Amino acid sequence: MAKTITVIPGDGIGPEVTEATLEILDASGADLEYETHLAGVAGVEQLKNPIPDETLESIRRNAVCLKGPLTTPVGTGFRSINVAIRKEFDLYANVRPALTMVPGGRYEDIDLVLIRENTEGLYVGVEHYIGLEGDPRAAAESVMIITRFGAERIVRYAFEYAKANGRKKVTLAHKANILKYTQGLFLDVGREVAKEFEGEVEFEDRIIDATAMHLVTNPYDFDVLVMENMFGDILSDLMAGLVGGLGLAPAGNIGKDTAMFEAVHGSAPDIAGKGVANPTSLTLSAAMLLDHVGQPEPAGRIRKALHGALADPETRTGDVGGRANTQDFTQTVIRLME
Ligand code: NAI
Ligand code: MG
Repeated sequence: MAKTITVIPGDGIGPEVTEATLEILDASGADLEYETHLAGVAGVEQLKNPIPDETLESIRRNAVCLKGPLTTPVGTGFRSINVAIRKEFDLYANVRPALTMVPGGRYEDIDLVLIRENTEGLYVGVEHYIGLEGDPRAAAESVMIITRFGAERIVRYAFEYAKANGRKKVTLAHKANILKYTQGLFLDVGREVAKEFEGEVEFEDRIIDATAMHLVTNPYDFDVLVMENMFGDILSDLMAGLVGGLGLAPAGNIGKDTAMFEAVHGSAPDIAGKGVANPTSLTLSAAMLLDHVGQPEPAGRIRKALHGALADPETRTGDVGGRANTQDFTQTVIRLME
């Protein structure tokens, strides 16, 4: 029976890359049905709500969502809907693969996966100003929250992911040398969980700053990486840079019951409506979705065809040095699946 998923085309280039991705999904033999819903600026314009109830209900019912980028107004207006969805469904694991797809970049054959804790750390938003001598903003304070529960489930997720995907090693990156309580707890819990996987998946821990340098000088030493929220935010962009940028980077946000797959890039207002956006990031996210719902065959076909279309400068989109527009690229991918 076809799996029904919620689709949020999103803002800016979102509808263009979503349309391309759905065409590719249909051609791949994926057995999916779609419930399309609004969010973000599109939600405000049509339903006066950046995160309409029917959108949330659809995600809750289907437990799987494919989401295009959503515009977050700067300064005023509503808060990030991306963050709101992660919170609403407790999507605690942010899975960000970095895989070389365009040859001739800084490195060839990079194949890494970063697992970022998505709910704790400094992102809990416990912050305030401290007034001093008439200056209401003399200082500011943010609280980093690490719980045993949160650390344990993210590190366990990383090990289970490594096992399920035939990966050899998990690296836990931390700053326990300085932040002895928060980062110390994360590291201690990580080491405990690692013991359960001894003999199955290798484990190492590294200090976060050294990890950043090592990722640039010798990325092949890594396999799966796991870390708390903000470190993961920063290093996942670094890793996207290793393979040619955000336009090629997919992401899964996984919870106990629900999962949301999204492009890592934003709504790209500078090129929206021009038909030139690269759909690869969202299409790779859709391939992750297919793996998640137990349809690995069409996922594999899509990845192989994307590799083919990106390998040839003639068929690439402009952001990665080609001349193809979104539709040309999409048709190449579909042709390569036949
Ligand atoms: P952006 O990722 O939208 O754009 C950065 C640059 O990359 C632009 O030059 C854009 O043209 C290019 N680009 C991005 N995706 C591309 C694609 N698929 N093909 C070709 N070129 C592409 O980042 P920006 O401009 O900082 O943010 C724009 C809006 O997107 C903001 O409102 C921001 O809040 C939102 N945003 C949403 C995200 C999400 O929904 N997960 C993530 C990041 C930003
Ligand atoms: Mg980020």
